[in-house]
Amino acid sequence: MIILGIETSCDETAAAVVTDKQVILSHVILSQIKEHAAFGGVVPEIAARAHLVHIESILQQTLAQAHITLDDLDGIAATGGPGLIGGLIVGVMMAKGLAMAKRIPFLPINHLEGHALTVRLTEDVPFPFLLLLVSGGHCQFLIAEDVGKYTQLGGTLDDALGECLDKTARLLGHGYPGGPIIERLAKTGNPRAFALPKPLKGTEGCAFSFSGLKTAARKVILENDITDPVFQADFCASLQHTVGEILVDRTLNALAMAHARHPSLAHLVVAGGVAANQYFNAQLSGCAAQRGVTLHAPPLALCTDNGAMIAWAGVERLRKGLIGSLDFAPRPRWPLDELKQER
Ligand code: KG4
Ligand code: ZN
Repeated sequence: MIILGIETSCDETAAAVVTDKQVILSHVILSQIKEHAAFGGVVPEIAARAHLVHIESILQQTLAQAHITLDDLDGIAATGGPGLIGGLIVGVMMAKGLAMAKRIPFLPINHLEGHALTVRLTEDVPFPFLLLLVSGGHCQFLIAEDVGKYTQLGGTLDDALGECLDKTARLLGHGYPGGPIIERLAKTGNPRAFALPKPLKGTEGCAFSFSGLKTAARKVILENDITDPVFQADFCASLQHTVGEILVDRTLNALAMAHARHPSLAHLVVAGGVAANQYFNAQLSGCAAQRGVTLHAPPLALCTDNGAMIAWAGVERLRKGLIGSLDFAPRPRWPLDELKQER
């Protein structure tokens, strides 16, 4: 089975070809970071236009790299939501048009399910597993019971972790995305230089809250000299250390909740852009080991948005006969626990 996946939900025009034998035949990503840099964030209208301009050549490159033509495909998957509506329409309409012309299945993919299943493209992780989904727009714990079957255990009450890192990095004078910059700067800093709040740490459940941490971080930054490299390193190390403690506390609770439902659950998966952070993953791996479960994170290149995760979710869905309808309308909001194996 050979599936083409298209991802256009935010600021990357990405496509990939993946097989059901867990092989990535090609993987192309065009980032729009430069187009949005002057505005300090992603401008939806600019993103939609850029997707439209580039999608055709990205698809041609993706097929050429895989040494195949459209005739070799068994299905075409595209992110159907959640995300920015303009970009979603570009990807979905392209996928529908090609699928209709070639008379092959169209597979609308929930972007979050794409992140959730990526680890099964590179490793054999069985269901059920506990999923920590941490990206620029999402921050939640879910139990992944099967393809299309997710139960949310808790999520953020305000900001997503990636958003908190991005906004803090901006106050420190850096560009987007801020997460990788903070990780790099933190390497040489003192993690105990600044005491920052740990909202919800020590409370029941596995909800997150990052707005208080973001505000506290802002206050410290405004009181210090951001041109001082020692401050930058110490502050980033302290922020990362604080977030690490929050993640560990919440994950231990989430694992207890997951084990109450599935006593034999043995795998914790971290996914989404923030899963690229090696410091957080080391912390999470430690708390997974404490509870007798194994931590899995996708390879770095597949943590942030990409076409392979969408193509792979397409493989998983097509294997189960969960084919989409050509009537599918892109969904800017589409919670994962509403998926219920819908077609
Ligand atoms: O999944 P993603 O590519 O896009 C969304 O669906 O949101 O995630 C992007 C987020 C950004 O907030 C970015 O700062 C964060 O992932 N991120 C990281 C790292 N790499 C990307 N955060 C922490 N450490 C990293 N190495
Ligand atoms: Zn994402």
